[in-house]
Amino acid sequence: MRVLGVNAIFHDPSAALVVDGRIVAAAEEERFSRRKHGKRPVPWSAWELPEQAMRWCLSEAGLRPDEIDLVGYSFDPALCVDLGGLGVTDPGDQTRVDYARRAPRFLAAALPGLDPDKVKFVPHHVAHAASAGLAAPYEESACLVLDGRGERASHLAGRYDGPRLEVLAAQDLPHSLGLLYEDLTEHLGFLRSSDEYKVMALASYGKPRHLADFRELVRTTGDGGFVTEPIDWNAYAPKGSSGADLNDDQADLACSVQRRLEEVLLELASWLHDQTGAKALTMAGGTALNCVANSVIARHGPYDHVWVQPAAGDAGTSLGAALHLSATAGRPLAMQTAALGREWTDDQIAQRLQQAALPFETPPDLAAVVGQALADDQIIAWYQGRSEYGPRALGHRSLLAHPGRRENLERLNDIKGREQFRPVAPLVLAERAADIFDGPLPSPYMLFVHDVASAWRERIPAVVHVDGTARIQTVDRADEPLLANLLEEFERRTGLPVLVNTSLNTAGRPMVDSPADALELFGSTPVDLLVLGPHVIRRAGTFR
Ligand SMILES: [Fe+2]
Repeated sequence: MRVLGVNAIFHDPSAALVVDGRIVAAAEEERFSRRKHGKRPVPWSAWELPEQAMRWCLSEAGLRPDEIDLVGYSFDPALCVDLGGLGVTDPGDQTRVDYARRAPRFLAAALPGLDPDKVKFVPHHVAHAASAGLAAPYEESACLVLDGRGERASHLAGRYDGPRLEVLAAQDLPHSLGLLYEDLTEHLGFLRSSDEYKVMALASYGKPRHLADFRELVRTTGDGGFVTEPIDWNAYAPKGSSGADLNDDQADLACSVQRRLEEVLLELASWLHDQTGAKALTMAGGTALNCVANSVIARHGPYDHVWVQPAAGDAGTSLGAALHLSATAGRPLAMQTAALGREWTDDQIAQRLQQAALPFETPPDLAAVVGQALADDQIIAWYQGRSEYGPRALGHRSLLAHPGRRENLERLNDIKGREQFRPVAPLVLAERAADIFDGPLPSPYMLFVHDVASAWRERIPAVVHVDGTARIQTVDRADEPLLANLLEEFERRTGLPVLVNTSLNTAGRPMVDSPADALELFGSTPVDLLVLGPHVIRRAGTFR
């Protein structure tokens, strides 16, 4: 069975293709359109489809639109009933619902040959749930979804048994932990539905001095759900503005909300464990990108395993919708990697470099050359294989640097044009991680934070956050042999089994996807070395 999944309704439009239960392709539209998050999350953008991502998914599998058996659309307008009765008064809601109802016809117009009757609406939170419960490597799991909102809810708690989902609780709007965090993000002067991760980083700098208040304002209800009361944000900290320095009051507010979020998530996860007795918890929804909260659940919760969908935000619902419909034919195969996006051959990359009239070399031992450059404290733009699905750089589209020099954090934040309070993350071989980092292992998708062993904090200062933690990515040698070799070459020269890894993009722009995107970044930032597949382009000698 060939199933295309589509997310288009709120933000992070994306497409995914599942063929006979196997994930063939998945990508966000932003990687093609070069517009971060694809579009703004306003109701009148709901008609826009991830047209380029959809077409690429089909071409990747060599399929025509008329050869698709089903299309899963990750929003069900039929569930949008009595929103006014819930206290949801967004005047744009009807526009969103109207566009969603017409999605089958929009899709048939975008993919000529597609029968609109093959388009099926998948409830938003069921799509999120499937992106976790059906993608994770467990036959059975408890599944927890939390985001800003879906049709009329902001949460789903359930259980997967094989291919089947049993929903145990769902919290209706207006109560929403995701919207609570988005409201805080906006109050602090950041972009809502986009910059929530910056608030999480800022929280590390504050003290939770309003925690008692937030325990009153945000509380679980004992039946799997929760209440979020309206909050007078100005009573806690002045409104921030974009680009302005943040003060202690704002950091303390971020810290207070972050701590309360962690407590509430732990209570919800524990309730779900009481209901299911499951050994594994699978999670998705934008809130599951909060790696600090995920770590609290992993560390203090009742589960043996916690697995989080790497595209936990709405981008992941295209994959979830496709997996959910595929599951009618049996449980799909587990997700093996997040590297599900576009790829160029070595020859195609070489042609692109020749077209750009750039001198390049193709060294026989790439890992040794790049390992030496990193040991020499050069900043590397590293581009290999398929691009990753989800918001994290996972070693295929990365900026790499020496972790032993504290100033490299500032250097990278300058290259990327982003705030100096933002941390960068370490990359480490899976078998070495336990020596240095304390937390859930392995951690291939950067969805948890780890405590850095005190003996190592001074040795790798560039990747240690202000609170002594790091959001690590572990590298499995079998899956990523070149990256593993690179880590070893660097360790041989420096004694450090860790590299700095941050996403290959600049502020406000999507992650690099194509070789042309990589060349644009290389031409506009002081990166020392660009590695495109097996080819190396040096700044020295190129731009002087
Ligand atoms: Fe969502």
